Amino acid sequence: MTLEQPSSLRLLALHAFPLDGRMWGLVKAAAAAGQLGAGVAVTAPDFRGRGGSGRTAEPVHAMSLLARDVLEELPGDEPFVVMGLSMGGYVALELLARLDAGLRARLRGLVLCDSRANADDDAGKAKRADSAAVIEKDGMEPLLAKMLPQFLVPESRGGALEQLVRTMFLATPPATAAADQLGMAGRVDRFDVLGTLAVPFLAAVGDDDELTPPSASEQMVDAAANAPWVELLTLPGAHLAPLEHPEEFLPKLRAFLDRCRG
Ligand code: MLT
Repeated sequence: MTLEQPSSLRLLALHAFPLDGRMWGLVKAAAAAGQLGAGVAVTAPDFRGRGGSGRTAEPVHAMSLLARDVLEELPGDEPFVVMGLSMGGYVALELLARLDAGLRARLRGLVLCDSRANADDDAGKAKRADSAAVIEKDGMEPLLAKMLPQFLVPESRGGALEQLVRTMFLATPPATAAADQLGMAGRVDRFDVLGTLAVPFLAAVGDDDELTPPSASEQMVDAAANAPWVELLTLPGAHLAPLEHPEEFLPKLRAFLDRCRG
């Protein structure tokens, strides 16, 4: 992670599987243009084993391991909001589960996009083990072919976003993606974090997201009923809905960040 400029509110943006921090480029650009409010800066780290992460891949990337990595490099002493999409959301919930008192006092909000708080069932765990083995054997291309239609609705295909998704997929080393899958298989249910959330919470989801469907976001919103503010944003699109429809997502994100400042 590179050294960051000080900000009045830091948005820690955590990426999906098997992508990297570049997926949040639009959000970074919006912050740099002042469209997310004055003094908002975005940190979008790459999880270990890929891109600009200085950390090497492990055989299994437990969500708690990825959360610890991120926490160790959280810049500055500013107030911050955590945002994660899908696997980034799983890591966000683990990160919130292990905040010390100092970090808890700095936390201002949580955004979970196209994510879920439940663990995998046995069938889901078995599918991930199979997927990890196939990735190790065949590389990223077959996974890309399978997941691209799940990530983007047909109307979002064929342009710069699809190209970025392809680039990130194919830049992810297969051993890293396999370790991510095994880590996600072992993740625990984190509704407890939502049940005790003391900061505003925004859940955003694509109405066509089959990987983490709207019902998963509805469950998270219900679990967070005691948080000071809870909002469910349904966007047109699939698993990458906030990137498919930034014109809808970014103004909502800005309004949410304004609320988080209190
Ligand atoms: C992701 O986008 O991070 C993955 O689809 C999450 C998952 O496989 O559960």
